[in-house]
Amino acid sequence: MSNKKFQLTDLSSGKSTELEAFSGTVGPDVVSLAGVYKEQGVFTFDPGFMATASCESHITYIDGDAGVLLYRGYPIEQLAEHSSHLEVAYLLINGQLPSKAEFESFAGSISRHTMLNQSLLKMYDGFHHNAHPMAMVSAIVASMAAFYHDSMDIHDARHREIFAHRIIAKIPTIAAAAYKHALGQPFIYPRNDLEYTANMLHMFFAVPCEDYDVDPLHAKAMDLLFMLHADHEQNASTSTVRLAGSTGCNPYAAISAGVSALWGPAHGGANEAVLQMLERIGRVENVPDFLNRVKNQESGVRLMGFGHRVYKNFDPRAKIIRAMCHKVLGKLGSSDNPTFELALKLEEIALSDDYFVSRKLYPNVDFYSGIIYSALGIPRSMFTVMFALARTAGWVSHWLEMIADPAMKIGRPRQLYRGPTQRDYVPLSER
Ligand code: CMC
Repeated sequence: MSNKKFQLTDLSSGKSTELEAFSGTVGPDVVSLAGVYKEQGVFTFDPGFMATASCESHITYIDGDAGVLLYRGYPIEQLAEHSSHLEVAYLLINGQLPSKAEFESFAGSISRHTMLNQSLLKMYDGFHHNAHPMAMVSAIVASMAAFYHDSMDIHDARHREIFAHRIIAKIPTIAAAAYKHALGQPFIYPRNDLEYTANMLHMFFAVPCEDYDVDPLHAKAMDLLFMLHADHEQNASTSTVRLAGSTGCNPYAAISAGVSALWGPAHGGANEAVLQMLERIGRVENVPDFLNRVKNQESGVRLMGFGHRVYKNFDPRAKIIRAMCHKVLGKLGSSDNPTFELALKLEEIALSDDYFVSRKLYPNVDFYSGIIYSALGIPRSMFTVMFALARTAGWVSHWLEMIADPAMKIGRPRQLYRGPTQRDYVPLSER
């Protein structure tokens, strides 16, 4: 409970309702609206959830003004430097960093759940070769519910744990199979002797006719990107997972709903859109023209990879990724990468332009991530799949947190209705 007191008063009747406020461990207090409809007969109206906390959570904290991101209290910068994606997944799910034994047991379990049922693999053949991989990934994730009837009781903690390990283990295999299907290459089975990200790269780039050794720098860069994308509190896809999951549907259906929500260009699809944008701009000389179109708010023209609902300062993830771009491109011998040069120039010009400064628009996580993915050989159509792969850890953690909460309720928003009032049906012959 917070010390603050709030009141909602209907100024025409003078009727007041006292609203309880609650404090989190850090961040703004929230005002509870329970009882407002019962007592005042009004709903609250907040399209886009601009000022609404949809749930209580213990997982991730963002201070958008200060550019702070904490997973279970740990700053993203420290995790990026010292941790790994699998350890971060454990942290998000369990609330604390694992001991050595706990980590070995978790990593062992993940590595033993990496294979896909052969029937699931056959499903890829139903897709045309040029199907967007996000369409394949969301369909395959949803279809997993058809295979695990014996371990899908959402009220059984052990079943929930098996689901969590299974989806985190299989999502790289699902992503790699989508990539191989698009290429027309044979599927490469997972290798449980490789670490999480190295295994993913192996499944993507190995072919049966020759040896393929994963470059440790590539695996490290990919692992870093996965950590940075692992969770971001109640973003659109995570909120979708929670909303779908609140109906009591099976967890694969809920995660598949999250994959679909992530696909849009305002969310996870932005990384793909950034590269398209940079390609269209082409050269540094064209930047001012492009920015003028953005500033004139031409229909459909935005500076992709810029701006964020929560960050009104640098996205801390973008800072880390930009530094990683320098390192990875330098080590790959492509430090004079023209796309990176163009992105740096675009950032510099935008950050000194009043349009972007006054609206507090800074580069977000997606501005530079595609440049690293490209340098690692990941094709543009797979960028959002990479995001989904990483965010699975966050979606799973939020679903687990919600289902284990005894106060969980189905998510069911209300609306401001502006349609016709009641009218009588007119038969077709009289219309
Ligand atoms: N380029 C140009 N103008 C922008 C941009 C942008 N990228 N983002 C916001 N604005 C302007 C917008 O036109 C508006 O101006 P005005 O007040 O004059 O009408 C003002 O800034 C506020 O924008 P908004 O659309 O009300 O802000 P929002 O919080 O609803 O949108 C956003 C957040 C991320 C959807 C938006 O900034 C955007 O579309 N960015 C580009 C897409 C992108 O990079 N998305 C990835 C987000 S980070 C990863 C993730 O969450 O998945």
